[in-house]
Amino acid sequence: MNNHSKIILGRLANAAIILLLAAVTPVMAGGETVCIQCHGSQTGRGLVPVKPWQASIHAENGISCHNCHGGDPADSANAMSPQRGFLGAPREGAIPDFCGRCHIGIKTDYLRSAHGRALGKGGPTCVTCHDSHGVTKVSIELISEKNCTRCHSYERARIIRNAMEQTEANLVTLSRRIEQFKVSGVDTSALEKSLFSQRNSYHSLFHEVNPTRITAESAKIAAELTRIKGSLDAIDAEFHQRKLIGGIAVGAVLLLALLLNLLRKTYS
Ligand code: HEC
Ligand code: HEC
Ligand code: HEC
Ligand code: HEC
Ligand code: HEC
Repeated sequence: MNNHSKIILGRLANAAIILLLAAVTPVMAGGETVCIQCHGSQTGRGLVPVKPWQASIHAENGISCHNCHGGDPADSANAMSPQRGFLGAPREGAIPDFCGRCHIGIKTDYLRSAHGRALGKGGPTCVTCHDSHGVTKVSIELISEKNCTRCHSYERARIIRNAMEQTEANLVTLSRRIEQFKVSGVDTSALEKSLFSQRNSYHSLFHEVNPTRITAESAKIAAELTRIKGSLDAIDAEFHQRKLIGGIAVGAVLLLALLLNLLRKTYS
């Protein structure tokens, strides 16, 4: 076989491998599934979820139509067949289980709460507060008069928001300070770890919607954050002291150099 035909054979083999890969890869390049292709070209009810989903935190993290609704994302003809695990759209009462397959701890807290106990009787589900397709990154701004006075007064919601607001502000300030220390080469891994665990317990407070418990837990977290702040202040103080000692040392050396220079001049 000459060189030329070797190259051609090599190219053919590559092409065959690429074709084979394309055939066995269930989800096409860029995460484009048959669900998105078909729904994206519909009009009306079938098209509505596509755009909000594309802008969601779920799309950003690779959670696509079939991860929530089931079905076969690679076979257009059988995509929505129950035999391929298609679940359809959940009815209201089934939504906490639907979302709770992935958000397990939150589902437990929610079901225990006044909201979970009122499921199907006027209480909110996950999608009342987060939407179903346009789900975005959460923040404390979700607790607002606009969102929380559709079904009852804002009094109890306000207690929750106030308790959580201070914690949120402290968390942000402390993580910024730790970031600055890290940049200047200080080992902050222990402090970072405890801040991370405080942030996690803070974020798991909300769904029980129990003002008394949230206020009490926020106070505990606040105490722990004060301790972390104390450690950061101590590092700060040490830094200043070192700077001061460093400054004095530099001053002393300069003074000595000046004196030596004077002495040299005097003797020569
Ligand atoms: C070949 C086209 C096509 C494909 C492929 C397709 N769908 Fe659909 N889907 C439809 C149509 C049409 C409807 C009905 C829309 C309407 O009511 O206007 C629908 C409805 C739905 C519904 C609502 C069902 C209900 O109970 O109301 C969901 C959820 C859904 N599709 C999810 C998916 C998922 C997930 C996939 C991929 C695994 C998928 N679809 C693939 C065409 C398609
Ligand atoms: C995070 C989970 C999740 C993802 C991802 C998701 N859905 Fe849904 N979808 C839901 C829930 C929950 C409902 C039912 C509640 C509602 O109607 O708001 C629903 C309802 C629907 C419906 C019925 C809407 C109606 O008007 O009754 C269709 C159609 C649908 N989804 C299609 C899709 C398609 C297509 C995708 C991908 C582009 C997708 N979904 C991605 C959770 C999801
Ligand atoms: C009454 C409104 C409401 C309901 C109902 C609700 N949430 Fe939330 N959710 C919130 C608020 C407010 C936050 C933000 C709290 C914070 O800033 O820590 C949040 C936070 C979250 C987070 C982020 C948590 C974290 O650790 O960062 C997830 C995920 C979430 N919710 C999922 C769900 C799911 C799943 C359900 C249903 C089982 C649900 N939510 C029901 C209002 C709600
Ligand atoms: C197949 C798994 C899966 C399902 C089902 C699912 N989610 Fe998620 N969700 C994720 C992942 C992964 C993330 C991104 C990483 C994270 O923040 O945990 C996320 C993020 C979120 C966030 C943002 C959390 C933050 O950090 O700000 C909210 C809110 C949320 N999901 C709500 C829902 C709701 C409401 C439903 C039901 C309609 C749902 N999820 C169904 C996997 C899922
Ligand atoms: C779809 C209606 C609905 C929405 C929206 C809603 N709630 Fe509720 N909420 C209820 C129902 C129903 C109850 C139980 C009856 C009651 O205590 O009023 C309840 C109870 C509560 C309670 C009392 C819990 C207890 O153990 O005493 C708090 C606190 C609360 N909600 C906070 C919120 C906050 C914060 C928001 C906004 C993020 C919100 N709710 C949005 C329906 C709603």
